[in-house]
Amino acid sequence: MPRVRVHQHVNPLAPFYRQTPVRLDIEELFADPARPLFMDIGCARGRFLLKMAGEMPEYNYLGIEIREPLVEEANRLADEAGLTNLHYSFCNAMLWLDRLIEKIPDGVLQMVTIQFPDPWFKTKHAKRRMVNREMADAIAAKLDIGGKVFVQTDIEFLAEEMFAIFRGHERFDEQKIDANPFPVKTERELAVESKSLPVYRRIFKGTEN
Ligand SMILES: C[S@@+](CC[C@H](N)C(=O)[O-])C[C@H]1O[C@@H](n2cnc3c(N)ncnc32)[C@H](O)[C@@H]1O
Repeated sequence: MPRVRVHQHVNPLAPFYRQTPVRLDIEELFADPARPLFMDIGCARGRFLLKMAGEMPEYNYLGIEIREPLVEEANRLADEAGLTNLHYSFCNAMLWLDRLIEKIPDGVLQMVTIQFPDPWFKTKHAKRRMVNREMADAIAAKLDIGGKVFVQTDIEFLAEEMFAIFRGHERFDEQKIDANPFPVKTERELAVESKSLPVYRRIFKGTEN
């Protein structure tokens, strides 16, 4: 099947992307809502979670993406694969992650991945970068104690910026890691790896504070 064609980037501050998302109800999304939840923010075409759902079926998987046609395509592929533990949501996570996951019950969110987000290199575009304090607050409000946030990028300044946001948050403990802990790599990670570029990674563990 041909891949859906989309703009490479969208401006997350444009009026269209300020629309509020519906609050998710995991009872409606997954066949077994009691499973631990694994959330990938900025999932693009969603192939990472599609493969993870096969490799580690003990989780429910939620992909979040701002480019709606990719979300529709990814949900179609999940349906075609008969996966009842995988769902993708259209959401501008920079503005609305808190609202999207507001109804997720405590203790369910166990794993969050943020992988190779758009760098928006120019200083005048810095406000478009996806990871901000509000996103860290939204994750902190739902992540279980001992749950993990995995962050990786090949862009050093962006790595430092994202790590500083989580490091400076009272609900996370930083862990240095040498490698991707998952059995699957995203499309972007494979592209970076093929060019032998360095990748900067951290895990931030949810604490009680
Ligand atoms: C460079 S791609 C990386 C995709 C994937 N994580 C990977 O590693 O291959 C960044 C993705 O984040 C999405 N994105 C950017 N800003 C976003 C936002 N505010 N909310 C949700 N997704 C966003 C982009 O549309 C794009 O699909």
